[in-house]
Amino acid sequence: DCISSRRIVRLPGMIDVHVHLRDPGQTHKEDFASGSAAALAGGVTMVMAMPNTKPAIIDRDSFQMAKECAARGARCDYALFVGASLDNYRQLAELGPRAAALKMYLNDTFSDLRLDDLTVWSQHMEHWPRHLPLCVHAEGQTMAAAMMVAALANRPIHICHVAKKEEILLIKAAKQRGFPVTCEVSPHHLFLTSSELGRLGAMGQVKPPLMVEDDQRALWDNMAVIDCFATDHAPHTVAEKRSEKPPPGFPGLETMLPLLLTAVNQGRLTLQVTVIVICARQNRQGTIADQPLIVTRGQQNRQGTGADQPLGWSDLEDKLHHNPRRIFKLPEQPNTYIEVDMDETYSIPEAPAHSKAMWTPFAGRAVAGAVKRVVLRGEVAMVDGRVLATPGSGRDVRELQPLLPPPPAVQPETVVMPWTEEREWHVPAAGRT
Ligand code: NCD
Ligand code: ZN
Ligand code: ZN
Ligand code: ZN
Repeated sequence: DCISSRRIVRLPGMIDVHVHLRDPGQTHKEDFASGSAAALAGGVTMVMAMPNTKPAIIDRDSFQMAKECAARGARCDYALFVGASLDNYRQLAELGPRAAALKMYLNDTFSDLRLDDLTVWSQHMEHWPRHLPLCVHAEGQTMAAAMMVAALANRPIHICHVAKKEEILLIKAAKQRGFPVTCEVSPHHLFLTSSELGRLGAMGQVKPPLMVEDDQRALWDNMAVIDCFATDHAPHTVAEKRSEKPPPGFPGLETMLPLLLTAVNQGRLTLQVTVIVICARQNRQGTIADQPLIVTRGQQNRQGTGADQPLGWSDLEDKLHHNPRRIFKLPEQPNTYIEVDMDETYSIPEAPAHSKAMWTPFAGRAVAGAVKRVVLRGEVAMVDGRVLATPGSGRDVRELQPLLPPPPAVQPETVVMPWTEEREWHVPAAGRT
């Protein structure tokens, strides 16, 4: 009853730290139910939703509204960003423990949240608690400036959707100096360049824009500097993308993993193979792989830079699971994993099935690697493209585990230094006569 011989690989649930689900307010583009269905179809079991909705998520009321939309609609686990505005830095700390992170928009993009004033940048970087993640949309020189303000505020910073050679090299240099900076790269900057703009036309607009091949090569050459892959899933309808003023952004949740698995098959990325099932079976639920015939451990090595990394090091699991969990302090999703078929080849459809965007910049691209099954907290959430998880079944991981501040550092005992004139000042009151 073996229908085919193929490599089916089990991976941890993928975590996408940068998605726009448009809910509340622009649910004709996407909502929690459709966006989280797209996530599951793409092997993503946890998403972090951006705050540039309508209204924007910048205070207690809007945060509560977004939490209700998500609780009703989400089919996968999630956390919600809050956005920095001109004057909300004092209120945000209260929301912090239950937010994915703080997002600061420092360049022009699809949002009214852009902040230009350096004083406002500093207020946010000083006041947002240091144990909570802080993410910036900051391109080129703006990125350098944001890193400087974060360094002066002595706090970690995460750079969204790095796209240019100068950006990845500056981040590399900052990491070498020990700055607590991390970054993510989106699939469209790894797999598309500005040479594609003739074909894509206005549909090709995205922030940051598609870059030249030299920039793209720098991302691949510095794979070890990239902490996370993140889709920046930014759905807009076809009509909107073809309009006079097309909004920037690409949908990405359903195409990220097929593109990255193709790169693994080509030896351009690594994958820590934990389970290989050589035989797949067919039943009414589709192709399943729950009876492994051959289980092996090993690693598909990346050619060139970084291929000498020790075993246990893997681009896919690191950048879509371990690093997102570490940087954003995300809890484990128990009994959660995905199964991908490394040998299924197909071409990406004109309109992936689940997102309301109904288009993709990768249409027609040949890929090798398909997400077959997603198990989320013990339940089959997706099988062969069919999403079984219902709206509302996803959990808010920050409600499960709020990021409360670490206990205050124990005050060191007062040290009396007899050789200083000031010792009187240091003697505890109780010890005085
Ligand atoms: C994003 C969107 O549409 O919300 N667009 C984009 O081009 N990336 C905003 C953003 O992430 O900058
Ligand atoms: Zn809603
Ligand atoms: Zn952005
Ligand atoms: Zn974005």
